[in-house]
Amino acid sequence: MSKKVLRTVGIDLGTSTIKMSSDTGKKLIRIPSIIGDPNPGWTGMTLDKSLENNLVLEEGGQNFFVGELARLQSEIKRPLASEGKMKSIKDAVIAIKAALSLFIKNDGEHILIATGVPVATSQEEMSTLSKGLSEEMNIKVRNDATGETLNYNVVVEKCLVLPEPYGSYYQILKTSGENRAVDAIIVDIGHGSTDILTVYQGRLMRTASGSLEEAVDTLTTRMARTLQEQTGKIIRPFDLMKTIEKNLSAVMVSGQQFDVSEVKNYYIENISEIIIDETSRLLGTLPPDAWIERVILTGGGAHVFGEVLKQKMWESNIVKSPDEVVIPDNPVMCNAMGFELIAQSRMKAETKK
Ligand SMILES: Nc1ncnc2c1ncn2[C@@H]1O[C@H](COP(=O)(O)OP(=O)(O)OP(=O)(O)O)[C@@H](O)[C@H]1O
Ligand SMILES: [Mg+2]
Repeated sequence: MSKKVLRTVGIDLGTSTIKMSSDTGKKLIRIPSIIGDPNPGWTGMTLDKSLENNLVLEEGGQNFFVGELARLQSEIKRPLASEGKMKSIKDAVIAIKAALSLFIKNDGEHILIATGVPVATSQEEMSTLSKGLSEEMNIKVRNDATGETLNYNVVVEKCLVLPEPYGSYYQILKTSGENRAVDAIIVDIGHGSTDILTVYQGRLMRTASGSLEEAVDTLTTRMARTLQEQTGKIIRPFDLMKTIEKNLSAVMVSGQQFDVSEVKNYYIENISEIIIDETSRLLGTLPPDAWIERVILTGGGAHVFGEVLKQKMWESNIVKSPDEVVIPDNPVMCNAMGFELIAQSRMKAETKK
């Protein structure tokens, strides 16, 4: 009998991108959180023929463009989440199935998934998602650039669904060799929302967790509005994302340069204040004996707001010194990597039985 292949995959369903980790973090994939209608046209013309960027899923007799292909080619596209919530579990299942095809190598593989969803997701939605993926599945995908099709039957042995920031918590703990459940607050600053999760005595504290609409998207929206007033031109927030990621201080509008550093810094301060206020408020709901030992700042927004938040958390007495605030090496992928570790530890527990 052939040996059963058991694959562990960590997934973080973000509002801007889906992040995935497999092969103990050696394989990391990030695709836009979008599914769209198929838009047949010239195929085979693209230089990038990777499955990742040309992903079509066949499901229930329908075709869906997923990720980058949907972003670039679909006329009708649906983001998977907005305002800090999953929009449709059905769409999430479609995206996850398509994404899994990027890892699976053989028919008949057994998979163990740990996935993160926004903190605001209800218990019922979490269990619907978990059920939608815990079974024998047929995954049929096509590469839109090459026409190549793949058809896999896989068995999802388990699908753990957890709040997103928990992935970063687990990753930080495991990689720092900590065996104890350290009391911590995790602030995950994403694209569309900031999720806050408090772990106290190993428990996820519901009253001390929540989410805010203020995140990186808020910054680009406010910058776009200011630039629009200055230039009289329409500027889309989306177009400012690269400016933020590259940490540029000027943008080009109609062939003219505009310095954005002042407005950027102003709103970074402003949004950081809001995040600090909410963090303090949530911490205030903990019992008086609770002692938060660590603050973890994760998500893509940690690149932008991390240093300012560190300083402000110290000034507002959330931490005793700025060193108690930890920013992971790879804040964008950290949740997914942590979820893979969780799936692995679950797999070890299962095989021991
Ligand atoms: N290196 C970087 N420097 C600055 N900003 C970055 C960097 N990488 C990503 N970002 C920004 O972080 C945001 C994406 O972060 P992340 O992937 O954590 O969000 P998400 O998980 O998709 O969203 P959410 O958590 O709200 O659902 C984007 O707005 C992006 O512009
Ligand atoms: Mg996120």
